[in-house]
Amino acid sequence: MKLKQCIFIMMILLFVTAFSAYSKEDIPTADNSAFKHPQRPAAVFDHDEHNEKANLEDDCSYCHHVYENKKLIKDESSEGSSCSECHPLKSSLKNAIPLRTAFHKRCKECHFKSDKGPVLCGECHVKKAR
Ligand code: HEC
Ligand code: HEC
Ligand code: HEC
Ligand code: HEC
Repeated sequence: MKLKQCIFIMMILLFVTAFSAYSKEDIPTADNSAFKHPQRPAAVFDHDEHNEKANLEDDCSYCHHVYENKKLIKDESSEGSSCSECHPLKSSLKNAIPLRTAFHKRCKECHFKSDKGPVLCGECHVKKAR
């Protein structure tokens, strides 16, 4: 009887730890596959939920913008393209600002200005398994 109780409790513990590890793995993040050797865990970013909370649902081009001859084309949106299609990994004279700067400027600028949302490295690049 005692052994059975013990096994039962251990099963519950195993289930609970497995489940909490799983839910941590499941936090949606930005896609960092364009970076060849990422130095950090991909940043937390739950696209639709975030944009709803930040009141950006009607302003896709705030992030998915379109430029022509270095001029921003208002109200046109490039949501079909990844940021990395236009922003190169390394800075170059003829192209847009490098990818990492593009992400950081877009994400952090608003958090600083509005005093909402994370601004510290570890708040966005959250390590998964702890
Ligand atoms: C507001 C959220 C946010 C904050 C704060 C932030 N980052 Fe990022 N960072 C991103 C996003 C989004 C990307 C692009 C894809 C990804 O890695 O998730 C990125 C990309 C990167 C990359 C390139 C990809 C890689 O892993 O090599 C590095 C390096 C990086 N960040 C380091 C930092 C450091 C260092 C800090 C603090 C000084 C920082 N970040 C703060 C959101 C953030
Ligand atoms: C706060 C910035 C931001 C806003 C606002 C935003 N997005 Fe995005 N969206 C992103 C980022 C970052 C990615 C990842 C792109 C990448 O890695 O190149 C993305 C990816 C996407 C993708 C590609 C998804 C995939 O699985 O490949 C689509 C489609 C998209 N967004 C549509 C929209 C639409 C529609 C809106 C407006 C209702 C919108 N986005 C508003 C930042 C934003
Ligand atoms: C269709 C090409 C294209 C796509 C897709 C694109 N960008 Fe850009 N982006 C540009 C160009 C061109 C510039 C202007 C660079 C210059 O003035 O030298 C720019 C400028 C920027 C700037 C600096 C100006 C500003 O608005 O503050 C940021 C930040 C930026 N992009 C972030 C992003 C992010 C994040 C994504 C993905 C969600 C993205 N871009 C997708 C082409 C693009
Ligand atoms: C125009 C403003 C704006 C931009 C651009 C923006 N954010 Fe935010 N972000 C917010 C606001 C506002 C909150 C706080 C939402 C709340 O909890 O009410 C927030 C919260 C967050 C949080 C905390 C978790 C959450 O969803 O509430 C993360 C993580 C985050 N942002 C990541 C990002 C990343 C990554 C980008 C760039 C791809 C980004 N943000 C671009 C305004 C912005």
